[in-house]
Amino acid sequence: MMNMNSNLDFMELLRQRRSVRQFEPRPIEPDKVDLLEEAVLRSPSSRNLDPWAFVFVQDKTLLKALSEAKPHGAAFLKDAALGVVICGDESVSDVWIEDCSIASILTQCAAQSLGLGSCWIQIRRRQRPDGTPAEDYIRNVLQLPPHLHVESIIAVGYPARQPEPIPRSQLKDDRIRRDQWQNDAAKGE
Ligand SMILES: Cc1cc2nc3c(=O)[nH]c(=O)nc-3n(C[C@H](O)[C@H](O)[C@H](O)COP(=O)(O)O)c2cc1C
Repeated sequence: MMNMNSNLDFMELLRQRRSVRQFEPRPIEPDKVDLLEEAVLRSPSSRNLDPWAFVFVQDKTLLKALSEAKPHGAAFLKDAALGVVICGDESVSDVWIEDCSIASILTQCAAQSLGLGSCWIQIRRRQRPDGTPAEDYIRNVLQLPPHLHVESIIAVGYPARQPEPIPRSQLKDDRIRRDQWQNDAAKGE
């Protein structure tokens, strides 16, 4: 029978989830890593093609190397217990980016449900300081095959600092329209 509280539980997870960029040094229990693997493999994909591959990185030396994939917004990965590298194969699906994005956010939601914190690190279209693609650097570090693109790395670990949930009143209600664009004149253009 359906758990009637399931919607509320998921809403609470969405309220609590914030990007975590500071992590405790402790590792993630292996059973939780197993659950994260299950969660990401349950991602839906267009035409069920599953054009993705996920590299779960816990080796500290590799995490440090990956944290240098781009000059901004990745350094905290060196302190994470886990980096989930989300890769996609464009020869399998023309919408691999959408599929990889869904897998990325589901990894973040699953991490949240397990009491872990996470942050998305954008890799696709990002560059190293010398102008070479961050993806090429990661391909070299992880020995990825040439047919895979890297969309993102999800940094995961126990939060050392957990940002506060954003109050409902601070959400951008003007980004929502009902039925037709002009119906809510009070919301502006
Ligand atoms: C597509 C995407 C790319 C992102 N890339 C990065 C990134 O490279 N580095 C980073 O620190 N945060 C990154 N973030 C996290 C956003 O900055 C964060 O989600 C946003 O500021 C909202 O904050 P919140 O996650 O705490 O709600 C990314 C988020 C998304 C959805």
